Amino acid sequence: MPANFIFETSAQLDIQKIRADFPLLATQVYGKPLVYLDNAATTQKPELVLRAIQDYYTQYNSNVHRGVHYLSQVATTAYEDARTKVAAFINAKHTHEVIFTRGTTDGINLVANCFGRKFLKAGDSILISAIEHHSNIVPWQMICEERGATLKVIPVNEKGELILEELDELLDDTVKLVAVTYISNTLGTINPVKEIITRAHQQDIPVLVDAAQAAPHLPLDVQELDVDFLAFSSHKMYGPTGIGALYGKEAWLNQLPPYQGGGDMIKSVSFKKTTYNELPFKFEAGTPSIAEGIAFGAAIDYLQILGIPNIQEAESQLYAYAVDALQTIDELRFIGEAKHRAASISFLVGDAHPFDVGEILDKQGIAVRTGHHCTEPIMQYFNIPGTVRASIAIYNTTEEIDKLVAGIKKAVTLLS
Ligand code: ALA
Repeated sequence: MPANFIFETSAQLDIQKIRADFPLLATQVYGKPLVYLDNAATTQKPELVLRAIQDYYTQYNSNVHRGVHYLSQVATTAYEDARTKVAAFINAKHTHEVIFTRGTTDGINLVANCFGRKFLKAGDSILISAIEHHSNIVPWQMICEERGATLKVIPVNEKGELILEELDELLDDTVKLVAVTYISNTLGTINPVKEIITRAHQQDIPVLVDAAQAAPHLPLDVQELDVDFLAFSSHKMYGPTGIGALYGKEAWLNQLPPYQGGGDMIKSVSFKKTTYNELPFKFEAGTPSIAEGIAFGAAIDYLQILGIPNIQEAESQLYAYAVDALQTIDELRFIGEAKHRAASISFLVGDAHPFDVGEILDKQGIAVRTGHHCTEPIMQYFNIPGTVRASIAIYNTTEEIDKLVAGIKKAVTLLS
C-alpha cells in the first residue's frame, strides 16, 4: 500500500485522529494522562501494527521459506511482502538488498563483523563520529581490536555539529569504512550524511549510515544518498521490537562472507563443504522474527499512509515550538544546539541531576529519558553526567510540550 500517494501534495495531518490509532496513548500514569516523550527510545504502536501481529498468530502462524503447505506459503508471502515494503520505503534498487535483522545494533554488528573479517587488516582504520550511539562505536572497536586496526573519530563542536573541516584529512588511505549516524539520538543533530558520503566516495571509501533515529522522521532514499550500508529499527518507527533492516548495496553484500551459520542461509550442506544461499538469505540464519517482520511491514504502511514529508513538516513545527517553549525556562541549558536538528532535545536544569528531574516529570505522567542515552563519549565531551531528553513522535502535541514546560518549572521549584 504505497499510501504516500494518498497525499500527493503536502497535507496537514490530524494529530488527534492519529493519536486515536495508538491505544496506549490513552493510558494514565499516577492518575495523570500519559505524556509520552521518550520516542527516541521506542515509539508506541498503532492498531494497524498490533492487528498484524494478532492476525499472524491467529490466522496463519507458520514457519517461512520452508513448507509446501498452505499456512507456510501465506506466512512466507506476508513476510516477503514486508521486505518489499521496506525496500520501497528506502528506495532500494533491489528487494534482496534488504536484510532483516534484530534492529540497528544487529545490522551494524553484521557489517562490522563481515566487512571487518573480509577487508580489515593491521594498520587500517574505521572512521566514526564523536556523536555516535554505542551501537555504532563498540562493534567497530571490537573488530578493530581483533584485526589490529584503529578507530578514528570526526570531532564535534560545542553546538553538537561535526567539524567537517577535518574530514578530508581524516579520510586518509588507512580508512576502510566510515560509519556515521544520520540523526544523533542524544543531541538531535542532523548530520550532513550526503556530503560525508560524497567526500568518502571521492577516496573510494564506503559509508554506513545509522538511520535508527532518522527513519521515522526523514525521507530515506538510499540511491539518492548513494549510501553503501544503512541500518534502522522497526520499533523506533511504530513497529515491534526485535526486527530491523540492514540495507547494503548488492555489490557489497555479494562480497561479504555470511554473518551467522544455520538454516535458511545455505544452498547445500555436506560435511565437506557448505555453499551459501543467495541474497538476502545468506545473512539470515535460522527462523526469523516472522510476526515482527510482518508487523514491521504494517508500520511502514502506516508511515506511508501519513506520508513522511507530512510527518517531517508537522514534527519540525512541533520541534521548533518545543525549543521556543523550553527556552523560556531560565534554569534550562540545552545540550546540543546544532543548526539542523530533529526529534530529540537534550537539556539540563540548573544544577539538578537529570535523574531527579526525570523522576519529578514521571510523577506528573511525563515520560522522558535521562542519563547518557548510550552516548557516553558525548557526555565526556560536554563534561556532564547525563541529560534529560525529550524526544517527539508524530502523535505529540503542543499541549504536551506545555505540560513538559510546566513539569520542568515544578522540578525547578522542588529542587532549588
Ligand atoms: N537508542 C535508544 C535511545 O536513544 C534506546 O534511547
